[in-house]
Amino acid sequence: MREWKQAVLALALPLGLVAVTPRGLLAQPAPPGDVQVRARVEALLAQMTLEEKAGQLTQAGQLTQAGGIAFGEIPPPEEALRKGGAGSVLWVNDTKRFNALQKIAVEESRLKIPILFGLDVIHGYHTIFPIPLGMAASWDPSVHERAAEIAAQEARAVGLHWTFAPMVDIARDARWGRIAEGAGEDPYLGAAMAAAQVRGFQGPYLGAPDRLLACAKHFAAYGAADGGRDYDPVYVSEGQLRNVYFPPFAAAAKAGVGSFMSAYMDLNDVPAAANPWLLRDVLRGEWGFSGLVVSDALAVRNLVTQGFARDGKDAAARALVAGLDMDMASGAYARNLAALVREGTLREAQLDEAVRRVLAVKVRLGIFEQPYTDEARAASVLADPQHRVQARRAAQRSMVLLRNEKKLLPLPQSLTSVAVIGPLADSKAATEGSWMVFGHVPAAVTVLEGVQARLKNARVTHAPGPEIRREVPSFFEDFMPELKKPEQTKEQADAAFQQALETARGGDLVIAVMGELANMSGEGASRASLDLPGRQEELLRAIVGLGKPVVLVLMGGRPLSIAWAAENVPAILEAWQPGTEGGHAVADVLFGDVNPGGKLPVTFPRNAGHAPLYYARNLTHQPEGSRRYRSRYWDGPTTPLYPFGFGLSYTTFSYSNLKLGAPELKVGAGAMVSVDVTNGGSVVGDEVVQLYVHQKSGSDSRPVRELKGFRRIELKPGETQTLTFPLGPEELRYWSTSQKRWLQDAAAFDVWVGGDSTAALHAELSVVP
Ligand code: NOJ
Repeated sequence: MREWKQAVLALALPLGLVAVTPRGLLAQPAPPGDVQVRARVEALLAQMTLEEKAGQLTQAGQLTQAGGIAFGEIPPPEEALRKGGAGSVLWVNDTKRFNALQKIAVEESRLKIPILFGLDVIHGYHTIFPIPLGMAASWDPSVHERAAEIAAQEARAVGLHWTFAPMVDIARDARWGRIAEGAGEDPYLGAAMAAAQVRGFQGPYLGAPDRLLACAKHFAAYGAADGGRDYDPVYVSEGQLRNVYFPPFAAAAKAGVGSFMSAYMDLNDVPAAANPWLLRDVLRGEWGFSGLVVSDALAVRNLVTQGFARDGKDAAARALVAGLDMDMASGAYARNLAALVREGTLREAQLDEAVRRVLAVKVRLGIFEQPYTDEARAASVLADPQHRVQARRAAQRSMVLLRNEKKLLPLPQSLTSVAVIGPLADSKAATEGSWMVFGHVPAAVTVLEGVQARLKNARVTHAPGPEIRREVPSFFEDFMPELKKPEQTKEQADAAFQQALETARGGDLVIAVMGELANMSGEGASRASLDLPGRQEELLRAIVGLGKPVVLVLMGGRPLSIAWAAENVPAILEAWQPGTEGGHAVADVLFGDVNPGGKLPVTFPRNAGHAPLYYARNLTHQPEGSRRYRSRYWDGPTTPLYPFGFGLSYTTFSYSNLKLGAPELKVGAGAMVSVDVTNGGSVVGDEVVQLYVHQKSGSDSRPVRELKGFRRIELKPGETQTLTFPLGPEELRYWSTSQKRWLQDAAAFDVWVGGDSTAALHAELSVVP
């Protein structure tokens, strides 16, 4: 019976007769099948001039906020669209404008091909969710999927078709500003979060109602920039690429992501945007990806700036040949592709291959049938109260309790006087965090507001302390002038410091909200230091010196080196950049309505000089921590401040009965690992159960530990749950540098299960030939 149904489905789906929807199988509307898509694409292609083909491969950029000036070197969209000179438009975020531009494309251009509107919808469109690093700290792919679904609903209602997300770059260097946008340092967790976001953004199939085309970016290894400096070259081995940097991309491809974005930088001396090994051999050849590949903004033209291409023409030719389908905003394709074919440098068939992919995406998204957006509908979608409910839940689940001496937290509801101090305590922009869609006005509930709402009858006072700011302004300020603010003078800063200290003195308890502003992480926001910016630590020390109980709520887009606070502030909650409902969610956790259950998706170094620091490093001949060799550095420990996977709870969990289904396995076989987890405390709580393995010898040296399974569970006081994880070739194989292929060695393995990457409960597994 099941086989019969599957056979019917296999025939009906590609023909477009049925659709798989969240509500089951529906006869209408159905996504077009492959045969229909191909027929439609070929019919169009046959009519297109070379210029129109180059047009479909061109994404025109325009920033509405900057008064409608064209960005990049292409004419404003109107002019280009009328001539069929652009297939997509980005940096527009206004329904009326979408419809006006679309009207030109579908009513005034010769072939009436609709435009694909793209924008960066990273962690929400109108309702803002925690930054992706925070979402990863939930270790709950289902919340990330739901967040992406809501972001898609809102953005689609406004008229967008395409988001440049998820960003799935592995980041092991906290100095790199874009660490905020990804899932952190681990390929296994990163792959789970990548796939979840693709499902959330795109839904059950490309073109599903109220969803977007997703884009896995930045392919590949952008996060491994030398020194954590954004855009700097990357040198990583093929083994590292395949074992560490590729898995989230491969997972996104497997989940059906419709587009990829190439990275900016040189990857082992070949720019990612013109790297045939990456874009053709791996992505299309090995992974079978059939969607479209877009460059990062201006990247094609910048192949010249980068010292790779001779001129724009050379850049366009080499990017296209390498497998890059669409040029984001640089104009190099628009200006050169037709001429390159006419002069014989490129074959028309090479353009056709890329054009087919762009057109196929448009057909699948259904924008030929529905090019316009209902201008009346968006408001009700954006106002859906469920979206805020989900944003609050996501923020609650993303928070990580780093320290809680003498059980200072949760705070009693009976508090009568609380001082909420710090530059981020009442900043809506910092609470929402980096990467807002253009034109979005921050509207978050701040921590101050969240605490005030929670303590209606208490005296809640606030002072921000001295301002914090980037020493080198962000280039985003050039087209977002509202970000520019006059700098505080030394006198003003001193006065603000004293005022903050006095306000703290007046409270029975102090909540210090400190960390980084929104523009201190994200693109072009790398740092040489990981300390609390400005005078925040000085203020924190002075507040702690008052002898009052102090809670530090950390906000920001990266791990910060808070070594002093980690020893001197009794309670520390990592709240990341928690989004629209951030302040409520922080208060929910501080006052114990919610027991924090998030865990770090990234190692916290003690000092920026330790970066890159990550748990899955290889062993050495001189293991660290022995009597004769205590630390790699003579000026301090190299152990992390907080390890990967770490997070406390208001309850305690214990692990026992770690069992392997079989202590010995043949290569290629699998077994189950089981473990009992008990909540030994008196309140209900969530634990993220983590499975790590280590291969003890083999064809290559392997990392000391690698995450190979996790699950977030909720346990009542006294409750025990038995969890099982599969362990087989999928978890035990790796890409071998010495053998130049994927392989599974016959070797002995350590297996650990526990609540972070230092888990002690251990078993041995032997894999035999
Ligand atoms: C540059 C960024 O690197 C990329 O992530 C983004 O999608 C594009 N700009 C478009 O805004």
